[in-house]
Amino acid sequence: MKQKKPWGGRFTKQTAASVESFTESVSFDWRLYEYDIEGSIAHATMLARCKLITEKEKDAIVKGLSEILKEIHAGKFEFKKSLEDIHMNIESALIERIGEAGKKLHTARSRNDQVALDMRLWTREQTRLMTGLLSVLQKELVKKGKDHFGLIMPGFTHLQHAQPVLLSHYLLAYVEMLERDKTRLHDCYVRLNKSPLGACALAGTTLLTDPLHTAKLLGFQGVCENSMDAVSDRDFCIEYAFCLSTIAMHLSRLSEEWIIWCNDEVKFIEISDAYCTGSSIMPQKKNPDVLELIRGKCGRVFGHLMSLLTLLKGLPLSYNRDMQEDKVAVFDAADTVQTSLSILAELVANTNFNGEQMMQACENGFIDATALAEYLVKKGVPFRKAHEIVGNIVRECIRVQCRLMDLKLESFKAFSSAIEKDVYEVLGVENCIKNYKSYGSTAPGLVKKRIAYWEKKLSSSSPRKNTD
Ligand code: ARG
Repeated sequence: MKQKKPWGGRFTKQTAASVESFTESVSFDWRLYEYDIEGSIAHATMLARCKLITEKEKDAIVKGLSEILKEIHAGKFEFKKSLEDIHMNIESALIERIGEAGKKLHTARSRNDQVALDMRLWTREQTRLMTGLLSVLQKELVKKGKDHFGLIMPGFTHLQHAQPVLLSHYLLAYVEMLERDKTRLHDCYVRLNKSPLGACALAGTTLLTDPLHTAKLLGFQGVCENSMDAVSDRDFCIEYAFCLSTIAMHLSRLSEEWIIWCNDEVKFIEISDAYCTGSSIMPQKKNPDVLELIRGKCGRVFGHLMSLLTLLKGLPLSYNRDMQEDKVAVFDAADTVQTSLSILAELVANTNFNGEQMMQACENGFIDATALAEYLVKKGVPFRKAHEIVGNIVRECIRVQCRLMDLKLESFKAFSSAIEKDVYEVLGVENCIKNYKSYGSTAPGLVKKRIAYWEKKLSSSSPRKNTD
């Protein structure tokens, strides 16, 4: 038998099967069920408070919804595509269960403000969840930084050897990025934390309701000020997708580097066998597929951000069915970043750093040349002049195939009389590292302090609730 539609009153024909399957969203928005029920309970509580339903009816609604929640949790609830979406599935089940009282739940509410509410509740929880996952990855990076304190690697610009840095300094660079990601999520959270409930279809209601009360029950920091904006706004989805895109981009940069780092010519890291995969034809292969997939999935997340922007562009006020598509994009972007963050944290914990190889690499590329130029500055040579002198010295070293530190003092003197025998105290990777001074630099003392700072900060970050 065909399902009776909750909106079927004015219709004379059954919905075509093709339309039902084209327009349904319950196959993906079922994930909102907890938030939908939480919102409905708050709404019913407000309706009772405003005497739009009786206390008894409210109790029946709350009990019915709580039972439905348990049923869904237990996997025993049957989602029907003929009932379109999660909202109508739950409302119909409630009416089936408790009868007349259930028919009053939708008083002073539309699916338009209901879905806007559910998405805000979902995204709000997601920002917390994602923040927790970012902390886990940060902790792993800090731990590696602490365990390997003292290891020196070539720092790169243009992917060419530039100046030596501590491996810990490199790792902490990502910790800083991930911290910014957290603050971005928090900004998103603050902006979205307003209740759209009460906007109804678009214009509000003629009934005497108390949206502020519902907002308070749901932990919102106030109510959306304009009902048309409340049901039309999906800025928070775009903003969240942008936060996710930035996280994905950061993960992708690290992945790209580490893919290079496990290349046979570089070999800075060795990822545990448990986090690599092999080749179906080449028996010797051990590939960094996890990192490649994190890098690859980044494209998906960016794509979803673009989908959302395009989805909203040109949509007239207020609600339009197009908006149903927001979930497809936001859910997948969130799932993708969530799994990437989790697996990367595991992979970091299961990666070894090859200090000798890094140190060996530091021997190439004259990565102490800038230190030599700064040495000359300290001797009173203007920097631009010092730059030229050292450039000439490097050219000579390339010609005779030696490192800067291999040159005799007389050879140095031929380029600049300012160079004295203390020059050997600034040359070489270890000297370079030792001599860094500026704030935020890779100076070992500063890096050590920053490790301690992160350890303390991250140990006090509370574990987040995962309700998804
Ligand atoms: N499934 C819809 C969505 O996700 C819910 C709102 C439907 N509203 C409507 N007037 N058809 O956007």
